[in-house]
Amino acid sequence: MVAKVQGFEAGWWADLGTGSGAIAVAVARMLGPEGRVFATDVSEVAIDVGRLNVQRYGMQDKVEIRHGSWFEPLEDLKGKLMGVISNPPYIPTEDLPGLQPEVGWHEPKLALDGGKDGLEHLLHLCEGLSSVLKPGGFFVFETNGNKQSEFLVDFIQTKWDSSFRDVEAVLDFADIKRFVTGYRR
Ligand SMILES: C[S@@+](CC[C@H](N)C(=O)[O-])C[C@H]1O[C@@H](n2cnc3c(N)ncnc32)[C@H](O)[C@@H]1O
Repeated sequence: MVAKVQGFEAGWWADLGTGSGAIAVAVARMLGPEGRVFATDVSEVAIDVGRLNVQRYGMQDKVEIRHGSWFEPLEDLKGKLMGVISNPPYIPTEDLPGLQPEVGWHEPKLALDGGKDGLEHLLHLCEGLSSVLKPGGFFVFETNGNKQSEFLVDFIQTKWDSSFRDVEAVLDFADIKRFVTGYRR
């Protein structure tokens, strides 16, 4: 998805809730000399692991990891980002006890719990998008799947039609509407 954005190689990108830093590293490896990824996480443990992985893949010059909640560490980048990527916590709180063991037993609650309907963080991310993206900037959020993606597409189109274009739900390999993508007008 990132590689389809015109001029992506030279852009500045954000990976919000970077965790292990895997998305930030993967994007950084596709960028040209001017491209950068700013990766944020509120968890200090995640920040440490993210920094290790950035070093492991030799991406220190391209990825800057910043500690803090969502857009807060990006105050200096307002209106400058070519893209925002996030796989935030999106599981509805009431569904957490029923998760598969490999997820529920090992992942920290902070990485999973999306609050009521799983939408708490996703809605916060939608709210902040327009101030950080430059005109034409791209966003992609992972969601819990079909209903959540459909809700978000409808919400963004209804509330911010003047700010975003081409907002859509994108299928994963299991044909589930897993991602919501769009562009800043
Ligand atoms: C589902 S994990 C995704 C991790 C990684 N990006 C990936 O795709 O594997 C969600 C991440 O969001 C982080 N997170 C939770 N609340 C946050 C907040 N308020 N601000 C920034 N990151 C947050 C968690 O620490 C966790 O690393």
